[in-house]
Order: sequence, then structure tokens, then C-alpha cells
Amino acid sequence: MIKEDQITIEEMREDDLDEVLKIEKTSFSDPWTYPMFKAEFSNSFSYPWVARLLPSRALAGYICFWLFEGEAHVLNLAVHPQYRQKGIGFSLITTALDYWRKAGVVSAFLEVRESNEAARRLYEKIGFRMITRRPKYYKNPKEDAFIMGLEL
Ligand SMILES: CC(C)(COP(=O)(O)OP(=O)(O)OC[C@H]1O[C@@H](n2cnc3c(N)ncnc32)[C@H](O)[C@@H]1OP(=O)(O)O)[C@@H](O)C(=O)NCCC(=O)NCCS
Repeated sequence: MIKEDQITIEEMREDDLDEVLKIEKTSFSDPWTYPMFKAEFSNSFSYPWVARLLPSRALAGYICFWLFEGEAHVLNLAVHPQYRQKGIGFSLITTALDYWRKAGVVSAFLEVRESNEAARRLYEKIGFRMITRRPKYYKNPKEDAFIMGLEL
């Protein structure tokens, strides 16, 4: 497991996008593209962050969420396959959770593929619960989404 002093979470920068896209492509069957990430930089309610390992500063993962009128919405979260199951995903989402609390967020939402056990367990571990199922929400392959929510 990664210790607290072995990881830093920082704002994502345009320079990070090559590495981010590599992780994105290995993580999702329907990945975000360069322009999709780039659009988040000019979106005032978007928070794209990266996790870097210390001391190497290797880019190990990222999260992107929106904060809007007291609600947080997690849009994207992934960890480099080489660094999974070391607590990095947990660290990204709990750092976001701390930020949401300080920002006065009252509820948080996200969508996850029904078959994505790893992500669903991670979200459940920090308190997200399933609210509803959205049939055939995802494409490539077509799959239902679980909409999960958390009251802060
Ligand atoms: C989901 C993902 C971000 C988890 O990141 P991670 O850094 O490997 O997760 P962590 O090591 O922080 O694990 C935290 C918890 O998540 C759950 N979890 C993580 N990987 C798991 C796995 N392979 N199987 C089951 N549960 C898992 C566990 O509850 C774990 O807690 P535990 O260690 O006490 O059992 C990572 O697997 C990933 O990048 N997947 C591909 C992209 C993706 O699916 N993103 C989510 C889109 S909604």
C-alpha cells in the first residue's frame, strides 16, 4: 500500500495529458479523448486532478469531478494498471471528499458500469450507495449504469 507521504494530488495540467491518455486508453473501452480532457480545463466548475508518486513524480492516476450548486459529480477516475490495488484510487476519491466537505457540498453522484466490481466496491467503501439503474447507459459494450450517491 502507498503511504500518505508517498503520494501527492495536484491539479492536472495540459502537459499531463499524454500520460493521462495512456492510462485512459488502458482503463476504458470507451475512453475520453484529448479534446474532452482539454475542455475540462476551461470549465470553471470542473476539477481535474492527478495523483503522483513521490519521489519519482510518476503519474499514477487521476480524477475529474464537477462542483455545481452544492453537488459534486464524479466524471472520471482511473489508476495506472501497474499501480492498482495500492490505495491510490481511494486516496484520490477521499481527497476529493475532503475538498467537497470544505466547499459545503451536500451530495455527490457518479455513474459506474454494472460489471465494474472494483470501482463499485471503492465507491461503497467511502459511503456511496446505489440510487438507481440506468438501462443501456454505456456503449461499447452496451451496459447498464448504476447511479450512486452520497449525502455529505
Ligand atoms: C477502480 C480503480 C480506480 C480503483 O483504483 P485502485 O487504486 O486500484 O483502488 P484502491 O487500491 O484504492 O482500492 C480501494 C478499494 O477499492 C476496491 N477495489 C479496488 N480494486 C479492486 C478489485 N480489483 N476488486 C475488488 N475490489 C477492488 C476495494 O474495496 C478496495 O479496498 P480494500 O483494499 O480495502 O479492499 C481502478 O481499478 C481503475 O483505474 N479501474 C479502471 C478505470 C475505472 O473503472 N474507473 C472507474 C470508473 S467509474
